Formats: sequence, structure tokens, C-alpha cells
Amino acid sequence: LTHHEPLNALLRRMPKAELHIHIEGSLEPELIFRLAQRNGVALKYESVEALRAAYAFKDLQSFLDIYYAGASVLLKEEDFFDMAWAYFERAAADNIVHAELFFDPQTHTERGVPFETVIRGLHHACQRAHQELGISSRLILCFLRHLSEEDAFRTLEQALPWRQYFIGVGLDSSERGHPPSKFERVFARCRDLGLHIVAHAGEEGPPEYIEEALDLLKVERIDHGVRCVEKPELVQRLVRERMPLTVCPLSNVKLRVFDRLSDHNLAALLEQGLVATVNSDDPAYFGGYLNQNFIELFEALPQLGAREAYQLALNSFEASFVERAAKDAWK
Ligand code: ADE
Ligand code: ZN
Repeated sequence: LTHHEPLNALLRRMPKAELHIHIEGSLEPELIFRLAQRNGVALKYESVEALRAAYAFKDLQSFLDIYYAGASVLLKEEDFFDMAWAYFERAAADNIVHAELFFDPQTHTERGVPFETVIRGLHHACQRAHQELGISSRLILCFLRHLSEEDAFRTLEQALPWRQYFIGVGLDSSERGHPPSKFERVFARCRDLGLHIVAHAGEEGPPEYIEEALDLLKVERIDHGVRCVEKPELVQRLVRERMPLTVCPLSNVKLRVFDRLSDHNLAALLEQGLVATVNSDDPAYFGGYLNQNFIELFEALPQLGAREAYQLALNSFEASFVERAAKDAWK
């Protein structure tokens, strides 16, 4: 271990918000097996160890294939509750005081699970997290970009009776070949509904996808966005607009966006004045929850110290969709 305990203690203890966590990506192999048994679902893997051994990814798509297979054990409202509750217990241990959770309804409605089942289970866990753990949370519905815009419109229709249960929409799944422009009309409709808007862009896809997300979808945050550095004028724009990036260091290494954590550009992004945040993305698949992301990143990048730790925590609250009144109360 190259560095000192005091910095690790600060990273662990500081209050923080998590803004980029796919709740289906928090499903641990142990819970996958428990739910498979409870629901009588057959799995391709013999054991928890065999499943975990399959978590070696060469890119985003090779991860997504196994992530969607893992989600196939989720059938009942209590399955969604149990998954989200397990995340909130981990979040409390990491001193997360606010979380904005992505969920992928199409992964479930495609298998015949009603939208209502998904959202009721997740909402119940959010309520209980507030009551029992003091964690505030919100849900963000993500459209799967490998599916059609028509499918996204259908999903939005199914979601409308539950409009008060989620605060925004995002765009995830296979990035390359599925630019933000494919979803321009459905996001316009979402803006009319008063929903917050985010999108994954510039993870595997080019910086032009980040520009499309800004210009066509009118996002309020970019998820990942690390490839913005390939276009200096785009970096300048992101700085000028204080456009947050929700960066996921361990994810980026597991999905081979960067070869090693020591190659990660997060310190450079902060240095240039970007509102970058640290997040776990899919912690059950990528080797750690939020504090693990902070600790490994700070160990890998010697430019990062206490000042940057405070900046990242502050950025996570600035970039959150917590209401202005609540933010003022924190000051
Ligand atoms: N779905 C879950 N995790 C994702 C990621 N990192 N990128 C795109 N879609 C995802
Ligand atoms: Zn993601």
C-alpha cells in the first residue's frame, strides 16, 4: 500500500452522493442464486463461484450480455425490493447520504414483468432507506439504446401512471452505433413532462455523442463522458456550462476504457475545472462499491489528495437533482 490511512479514512467517512449506479448492476452473485432458487429460474452457472468467474469483460457489450442474464431472476416486487435494499445497506456503510438510482424497465418488461412490479419494489426500498438509514434517494428511468425509439416511447407510456415515482430519464446500454440522435423525439417528450434528463455518452462512444447529448437531448449531466478530452473545445464548453460528468473509475478499467487505473483521466478532468464525480456504475460486476472506487482511484493517481476528495464530494451534491431548497439547507 502506497498511501496513508488518513486519506483513506477521509474518503470513507466523508458524506457523499452517488449519481451513477444501475440498480440491476448491484445484484450480487449470492443474491442472483437466492432469487433463482426462490423463483424457480434455471441459471447457466453451477455456483456463485462459477458465475463470478465469468465476470471477465473485454468491452461494454461482453459485460451487458452477462448483466442482462443476471437480471433474469428478478420477477416479483419483493425481488426488486431486496436488490435495492441490499444496495442501500452498502451505501450506508460508504456514508452515501443521497443516491440517484438508474433502473432499466425494458430489461424486465421484455420478459413479461409488469412495469408496476419493478417500480413498486424499488420505490418501497427508497422509502425504507429514508426511514431506517437516513438516505435520500430518487429513481431515474433509463431507456435501452440498443432498442428502438418506438420501444422507448412505449416504455414511457407504461411509466406515466407512475410519473411521481421517478424524477428523470437516462440512456444506457450499447453505446456504439446508437447515438443520442436516435432518441431525440422521446427525450423532447420527457422534457415536456418536466423530467430531468441525463445520458450515457463518451464512455465507448466518440466525443460527438457527448455533443449530441447536449444539443439534441439537452442533458443536465453526462454519464461517463471521459472521452471528452479528445476534443479540447468540448472540454471548454463542459467547463463553461458546469456540466457534470458522472465518472466510474473501476467500471472504466473493467470494460477496458482505460488499461489501468493509473491511466485514468479523472485527475486531469478535475484539474481542467470539470464538475466530475466518482460513482460505482455496476458495483456487483466491477469489483467494488463507491468507497472502493475512491480508495483505489486515489491510490492509483498521486495527484489526488484531500483537496480533491472534498471537491469530488462537493461536486456530487452540486450535480445531484436534490431540490434547490434542500441544497440551500446544506450550506
Ligand atoms: N448499463 C449498465 N451499466 C452500463 C454502462 N456502464 N454503460 C452503458 N450501459 C450500462
Ligand atoms: Zn452506467
